[in-house]
Amino acid sequence: MIIAPSLLASNFGRLAKEVNRVERSGADWLHLDIMDGHFVPNISFGPAVVATLRPLSKKFFDAHLMCSKPEILLEPFAKAGANQITVHVELAERVPQLLWKIKSLGVKVGLAVNPPTAISLVKPHLGQIDTLLVMTVNPGFGGQSFIYETLPKIQQVAVWRLEKNLNYHIEVDGGIDFKTVGECARAGADVFVSGTALFGKPSLKAAVNTMWRAAQNNDPALADLAVH
Ligand code: DX5
Ligand code: ZN
Repeated sequence: MIIAPSLLASNFGRLAKEVNRVERSGADWLHLDIMDGHFVPNISFGPAVVATLRPLSKKFFDAHLMCSKPEILLEPFAKAGANQITVHVELAERVPQLLWKIKSLGVKVGLAVNPPTAISLVKPHLGQIDTLLVMTVNPGFGGQSFIYETLPKIQQVAVWRLEKNLNYHIEVDGGIDFKTVGECARAGADVFVSGTALFGKPSLKAAVNTMWRAAQNNDPALADLAVH
């Protein structure tokens, strides 16, 4: 079970300090939401910011590209220090070449799917990826409510993983809090991106630990503890 705090929910006025906070938190990955103002109606940050943060952290940098033209961004993000680059299956016929290009850059390969998109679209690519990212909100903004209709998608990709004897991570992203983390874990997810629920707590370390335990034990009682 891997907890991946999303930097999008941090205070951009003190990014270096926020990365230090993540560094000390016990989280395994740092999730980096890259938004281009076109694929999603919001803009976040680019490779220069990631390169600036790289020397401050030993975490696995998980770059989630919500971008219409990831072709021009793969190399810059790999050079900036991303350990994994995720592109969206909604890019359709461009996906195979994008996945190949990511792999050729020597970083891990991720594929994301939005809530309204049929999960069957990821199936042809499962053998090529390290991580399947099931979006549990419509991408673009932090702080949205978890969409429960995405749970069967998590179950489906977990079944395919077993059937095909593959070992990609199943990552969930959007509206993950101390309650929904357990529901996603029960459905088969093993990487949990969380922004608002973690950074909103005074101690990121305690929040990450509680979320990890809630994912690990699938124990709803822990969720109640964490809310108060
Ligand atoms: C949404 C992003 C998420 C976001 C999650 O477009 O992909 O990674 O930061 O934020 P919370 O946990 O606040 O829903
Ligand atoms: Zn994300």
